[in-house]
Amino acid sequence: MTPPIRVDAWAKVNLFLHVTGKRPDGYHLLDSLVVFAGIGDTVEAVPGDRLTLTVSGPTAPLLDTLNDDNIVLKAAQKLADACGVQARAHLALTKRLPVAAGIGGGSADAAAALRALMELWQVAPSAPDLHDLALSLGADVPVCLRGAPTRMYGIGDKLEAAPALPPAWLVLVNPRIGLSTPAVFKARQGCFRDALPVTISPVDAAQLAAELRRRDNDLSAAAQSLVPEITQALSLLDATPGCLLARMSGSGATCFGLYADPASAQQAADQILAHRPGWWCHAAPMLSTP
Ligand code: C5P
Repeated sequence: MTPPIRVDAWAKVNLFLHVTGKRPDGYHLLDSLVVFAGIGDTVEAVPGDRLTLTVSGPTAPLLDTLNDDNIVLKAAQKLADACGVQARAHLALTKRLPVAAGIGGGSADAAAALRALMELWQVAPSAPDLHDLALSLGADVPVCLRGAPTRMYGIGDKLEAAPALPPAWLVLVNPRIGLSTPAVFKARQGCFRDALPVTISPVDAAQLAAELRRRDNDLSAAAQSLVPEITQALSLLDATPGCLLARMSGSGATCFGLYADPASAQQAADQILAHRPGWWCHAAPMLSTP
């Protein structure tokens, strides 16, 4: 039996996120620096008679799965249609990331499924076709497909390589409360902000934090109004030794702390779990290089 094709679906972290405008169709224009953390879900693909998906892993029970609405199955079907092949594969998703959490879990899973199935089916849509296919699945899918530090703008469809980033470690904290992205965008108040891309290459994590302090997550206030635990998560992160910056990722509720070394990050994660044993909290390296 051939071994499964295995692709990691790393957690996506918006180091900052400015809302710069709104399109007539209701989608918001964003400016964001996106990185990936070395913790994530896994997608495995093996040949099958038809398209099937099984889900396991610690956060699998949170997923309302196994219907046609599932983004992994949608991604597989769209890829098969685009390439004129039969959608035949067995996909196994191992869920470790919280669901509806602002760290792109579903989007990363869809991107990983596309990568795994392109290999299994030996198909390769052109780069623009693949980009459009990914975007049709969700605004965060193209950046997850890229899987490297990226300046993301437009509605999430415009991607550019980020400047080189220094080694850094992240602590991700989620109160295990799912948050709907449309609800957060709807609750957002205030005007639009200018794009402010990071153009320098910070020499270390401290300089990266200094750059990020000049920016913010413009969805944070709205998300905190819906889930007050986000405010607690940010305070808990801020209070940990070595935390250079604490912010929310995406539309929440996951928050991250930025650290200069892995020991500080791990201690911070342990400290937060001691205070909030029921929460989801992990330390992970920031994947600084592609
Ligand atoms: O594309 P995705 O399914 O991730 O988006 C979910 C919802 O989030 C959209 O229907 C929209 O309400 C909101 N959204 C937005 N602007 C973006 C991305 C998402 O308003 N750039």
